[in-house]
Amino acid sequence: MSTETDTGRITVQVTRYRPEDGDTEPTVQDYEIPLRKDWAILDGLNHIKDHIDGTLSYRWSCRMGICGSCGMLVNGEPKLTCEAFLSDYAPGPVRVEPLANFPLIRDLVVEIGDFMRKLPQVKPWIIEDTEPEREHLQTPAQVAEYQQYSMCINCMLCYSACPVVGLDEHFLGPAAIALAQRYNLDSRDQGVLDRLEVLSTDNGIWGCTLVGECTTACPKGVDPAGAIQRYKLTAAAETLKSFLLPRGKR
Ligand code: SF4
Ligand code: FES
Repeated sequence: MSTETDTGRITVQVTRYRPEDGDTEPTVQDYEIPLRKDWAILDGLNHIKDHIDGTLSYRWSCRMGICGSCGMLVNGEPKLTCEAFLSDYAPGPVRVEPLANFPLIRDLVVEIGDFMRKLPQVKPWIIEDTEPEREHLQTPAQVAEYQQYSMCINCMLCYSACPVVGLDEHFLGPAAIALAQRYNLDSRDQGVLDRLEVLSTDNGIWGCTLVGECTTACPKGVDPAGAIQRYKLTAAAETLKSFLLPRGKR
């Protein structure tokens, strides 16, 4: 069993912002906490809240990389704080800040309404031209086509890493486009053209400048940058077809 004396102590530099108390700008507060081998950054924040400063605000739920709610910047990089270990930042100090590119509400809590409004814009559901007469069956190969894109946990790390998101509030962003691709590549779906109207725009795939930081940041291997590039090929092919064929024959 680990103890506090395992590896000493580490300083965590945490963003504080309490507008209801009159804060006009975020500040940084240092907390010295035990450096335990089995503690993630989130365990350190929980230690601060439970034993040092109960006013600290941050989001988390599952502690196992599933719910997507504990994303923050750790030493400037977007991370799930339940998966980033304190010992990897020893001897410290380690900086913990709210996700970049989102409005700040309080301490480490950001406003996610804009992100949540963008997801349904890509029509993330199965679209069929005709009513199915029986259940759809899929081969393992057909499932494998889209499975990678279905692993997204909406953690928003890719939005925090993306410079285009930071510059253009209208850009749909990496996770929304990867979500569209999850349905476009599903053998049961016939909604590629419907989604093109939303995605083949400057706010969609053509807004992406190929930086690729989204894929680097993604903790689930979704590869949003790959989804966007693949979708650009689809969009280009569909545009070409639209010039050559009437819609019913595309
Ligand atoms: S694509 Fe990856 S980084 Fe972006 S929200 Fe989904 S899981 Fe998070
Ligand atoms: S607490 Fe759920 S992903 Fe980290």
